[in-house]
Amino acid sequence: SLENPIHSLLLSLSLSLFLLWKIKVTLIQGDISNPEDVRAAVKGAHVVIHTAGLVDVWGRVRPEKIMAVNLQGTKNVIEACVTQGTQYLIYTSSMEVVGPNIKGHPFYRGNEDTEYEAIHHHPYPLSKAKAEQLVLEANGRLMPDGKRLVTCALRPTGIYGENHLLMKEFYEQGLVTKKFMIRAIPASTEHGRVYVGNVAWMHLLVAQKIQEDSSTIGSQVYFCYDDSPYKSYEDFNMEFLRPCGFRLFGSRPVLPFLLLQFIALINSLLQWLLKPFCVYAPLLNPYTLVISSTTFTVQTDKALRHFGYKPYFTWEESRNRTVRWLQEIRAERQAGK
Ligand SMILES: *[C@@H]1O[C@H](CO)[C@@H](O)[C@H](O)[C@H]1NC(C)=O
Repeated sequence: SLENPIHSLLLSLSLSLFLLWKIKVTLIQGDISNPEDVRAAVKGAHVVIHTAGLVDVWGRVRPEKIMAVNLQGTKNVIEACVTQGTQYLIYTSSMEVVGPNIKGHPFYRGNEDTEYEAIHHHPYPLSKAKAEQLVLEANGRLMPDGKRLVTCALRPTGIYGENHLLMKEFYEQGLVTKKFMIRAIPASTEHGRVYVGNVAWMHLLVAQKIQEDSSTIGSQVYFCYDDSPYKSYEDFNMEFLRPCGFRLFGSRPVLPFLLLQFIALINSLLQWLLKPFCVYAPLLNPYTLVISSTTFTVQTDKALRHFGYKPYFTWEESRNRTVRWLQEIRAERQAGK
């Protein structure tokens, strides 16, 4: 999942609220791994939506850094809420706190109560799982003024939308191969995806409800989903790339899966060998191969039942907005030439 776009989206949502209703927005820049910075940012707020996170499943960032931002940062947010008397905390978690696991067990249209063997070795899912646990355990903590902290977590599936860095990377890689791509993963592998605007919308709804009905929302987790169709990663990305003139070749995977596994292994070997000299972090590694070739989709209405969530953007609007953004990149590139 990608958390930065939510951050900017929440920001732009609050900015547009500001323009509409003259709500004041104050930007405070700081380092989330520094408790003092976080305390200063939280001071005076009565709800915190904690979306900050470092997403890396490719080995681009050192594991210690991922832990510092995702885990220590979350500890800092919790402590800041308690010491500053901020009673409500909403945490942007990730579906990856559940799976897909490295064994490749499918999670087919499951909900928040579906049993699944969560196994975390990689720093990113590990840091998110631990941070989510801390947030949920902090629910009910006594604060200096006698009130109790109320917390919950939202777990977005794969987020897409404007400024989706990975989509931009696919777009640029696709230009290298003349907009011609080959299928690597069977089309029957389903992945859950959610539009960034709906992720933001769900945060705003739960932020309101948690203050009105803290006994229902407190310590709960919610998958973060919308009406985006269940498809494989490749077929889903083609929904945006096809209108830009891209083509996906093959109704079945073109390369044998064993070969992909072999390339993934070679990539991780190269990453290890090159470590002293440079960061070699291609998109394909054994972890990303398992993630992209394992079905993981959610089907739930918990957020609808608990706080009346319905997607704000339809699938068609979400797709159109994402396509428009990609086409703007293309226009900018052509103007730049
Ligand atoms: C989405 O884009 C298509 C093609 O440009 C257009 O026909 C359709 O009306 C758009 N739908 C929405 C909801 O914006």
